[in-house]
Amino acid sequence: MLKVLNIVGARPNFMKIAPIYAEMKRRESEFLPLIVHTGQHYDAAMSDSFFVDLGMPTPDVHLNVGSASHAVQTAKIMMEFEPIVLGQQPDWVLVVGDVNSTIACALVCAKLGVKVAHVEAGLRSRDRTMPEEVNRILTDAISDLLLTPSPDGDENLKAEGIPESKIKLVGNVMIDSLLRNLKIAESSQVRENLEVAGKDYAVLTLHRPSNVDEKEVFSGLLESLLAISERLPIVFPAHPRTQSRIEEFGFAEKVANSNIKLIEPLGYLDFMRLYSGAKLVLTDSGGLQEETTALGIPCLTLRENTERPITIEMGTNILVGTNPEKIKQTAFEVLADTNFTAHAKIPPLWDGKTAERICDALLV
Ligand code: UD1
Repeated sequence: MLKVLNIVGARPNFMKIAPIYAEMKRRESEFLPLIVHTGQHYDAAMSDSFFVDLGMPTPDVHLNVGSASHAVQTAKIMMEFEPIVLGQQPDWVLVVGDVNSTIACALVCAKLGVKVAHVEAGLRSRDRTMPEEVNRILTDAISDLLLTPSPDGDENLKAEGIPESKIKLVGNVMIDSLLRNLKIAESSQVRENLEVAGKDYAVLTLHRPSNVDEKEVFSGLLESLLAISERLPIVFPAHPRTQSRIEEFGFAEKVANSNIKLIEPLGYLDFMRLYSGAKLVLTDSGGLQEETTALGIPCLTLRENTERPITIEMGTNILVGTNPEKIKQTAFEVLADTNFTAHAKIPPLWDGKTAERICDALLV
C-alpha cells in the first residue's frame, strides 16, 4: 500500500488533484491518499468552492500559508511542509502544475530523500520572466517521476538531460475533471443569471502579472477588448489580482460603462458552464487553453508565448500576443471564419483516463 501526499495550493491545482485522489480512493488496497493544502489560495472563491464542486474532502492537512512575496510564500510553505513529511513518512509526494506550492513541496522532499512525482511535467514557455516557468524547470529537475501531458513535454525533458526512465507520458489530467463534470455543470444557472443564455458571448480571463501589473500594458489590452465587446459582449470573471489593478489604475468606470461584464471569480462548475457556451475565449490562463482545445472552442491567448504548444498545433488556440491591434484583428477574423474549428483535434491521451495512468505509474 502506497501512502501518497497529494499537494494542492492554488486554484489551478484543485481540478488536477481531484481525479487522481478519486482514483486512489477507488484503489484502496493499493493507495492511501492524503490531501495537503498549502493555503496559497485561501478565499472561498479561489479555493473552498472548488472542493465542493469537485467533490473533494476537507484537506487532511492545511498549512494556512496565504499570500506573500514569492520568496516568503515559498519559504513559508517549505517550513510548514517539512514537519508534515517527517511525521507522515509518505511513499510518494505528488505535486501538480507550476505554482509556488509545487516547487516548495518538491524541494522539501528532494532534501529529505522522499520521492516526488510531478504531474504536468515538461511544459516550457521558454520565458524565464514568468514565475511559473522557473517553478516548472526547477520542479522537473528534482522530481523522481515526470508525468507529462503531451509529447512535447517528453522532448523538453530529454533535451534538459533528464533520463528517459523517469519520464512517462500519461496525458492531461485536467481533461479527466472536465469530462467528468461537463454534464453535471449543465445544472448551473450561470448563463441565465448573467443573461447570456441562448446568446452569443465571449469569455475573458486575465491575471498574468505581465499583463495586469503594468498600467500601459493593461490599458492597451483593455482598449482592444472594449472594441471586441462592441461586436460580441464579453463576460469577465476577474481574479483578485486583476480586480485590484482595475481599481488602482482607474479603469473601473470605463469597464462598467461597456459591454464587458466584470464579475467575481466563478466556481469550477459555473465557470465550465459559462465558457462551454462561449463563441470565443480570450485568456492568459494556461488551463483554459487546454479546456477550450478539448471542447473545440476558439481561444485567443493574450501572451507572447505558451508552454502548451499542442493546443495551437492540434487544437483551437491562437497565440495572439499583447498587441491591441493584432488582438482586435484576429478576434474579428476568427469570429468571421465559420470553419475555424473544423480541423482541430483533441490531443492523444486527453481522454479522461489520465488519473488511472498516473496511479499505474506510481506503482511501478
Ligand atoms: C497563482 C499562480 C499562477 C496561477 C494562479 C491562478 C504562482 C507563482 N502563481 O498566481 O500560476 O495561474 O495562482 O489563480 O504560484 N489573492 C486573494 N485570494 C486568494 C489568493 C490570492 O485575494 O485566495 C490575491 C492576493 O492579493 C495575492 C494575489 O491575489 O497577493 C496573488 O495571489 P498569488 O497566489 O500570490 O498568485 P496568483 O497571481 O494567484
